Amino acid sequence: MPTYIVTGANRGLGLEFVRQIAKDTSNTIIATARSSSTDLADVKKVASKTTHFLTCDTGSLDSIKSFVSEVKSQFSGSKIDYLINNAGINTVPEQTALSIYPSDLDEQIRVNVIGPAKTTQFLLEANLLSDSVRIVNMSSGLGSMAVSLSITPRKCATYSISKAALCALSVQQSGEVREKLKGAIVVAMDPGWVKTRMGGEGAVLEPEESIGGMLKCVHGVEEGSNGKFFTYTGEEVPW
Ligand SMILES: NC(=O)c1ccc[n+]([C@@H]2O[C@H](COP(=O)([O-])OP(=O)(O)OC[C@H]3O[C@@H](n4cnc5c(N)ncnc54)[C@H](OP(=O)(O)O)[C@@H]3O)[C@@H](O)[C@H]2O)c1
Repeated sequence: MPTYIVTGANRGLGLEFVRQIAKDTSNTIIATARSSSTDLADVKKVASKTTHFLTCDTGSLDSIKSFVSEVKSQFSGSKIDYLINNAGINTVPEQTALSIYPSDLDEQIRVNVIGPAKTTQFLLEANLLSDSVRIVNMSSGLGSMAVSLSITPRKCATYSISKAALCALSVQQSGEVREKLKGAIVVAMDPGWVKTRMGGEGAVLEPEESIGGMLKCVHGVEEGSNGKFFTYTGEEVPW
């Protein structure tokens, strides 16, 4: 029965992933949160008996390494079938291309790009990913240069740059991961504009619709999907 890792599972889209995946009690879920003091009350309400909670600060290499060691010791013998690199930040949406603070861009890159890169790398090196693992890197419409070009004025410069880098990482991983795991598929995804703390007031989609669509897409990916970028509706997004 499949095993899922969902990062940033305490709230927002991560929590909704857990809620929907937990409906099938044959699924094992490893749900992660930034720290041992993170409030897990909401996600525990929707979790199944086969949901396990671990700490992983995706902005810290030490924390990602400890998390992978913990997965190895607690789940030895099972492999991860779905890795959902969901945790992400958009802390300075007001910054434009003409007002980027280097430390803020560093932080978005550390959490939004290096986090998914190292989570994937360390799990693979620990031999914890299944040969046909599905890896979902949670990007954004703003990670598409074609979409950004169509938005005037441009939006969320540091976030957009980090999510475009995450798309590029997905393309790189789709080659490198498959060198090691012959049936692996790596995709970047755009969940749409969803009502979460990050999505904010104007968001149009309910988490249920976004994540329902994403899971349908992820469960339906095939050989030719490797290295592509999809919306929650399963349509391909132009880079
Ligand atoms: N909502 C949207 O409209 C939208 C649109 C496009 C893309 N996305 C992407 O979808 C993903 C989820 O977004 P969301 O709307 O659910 O955002 P959210 O409501 O702000 O939730 C973000 C989640 O990521 C976690 N997180 C952030 N930094 C972390 C770190 N360093 N270590 C571990 N966990 C960390 C948060 O944990 P804490 O509670 O500890 O902060 C929280 O669980 C993100 O990657 C986001 O960029 C969202």
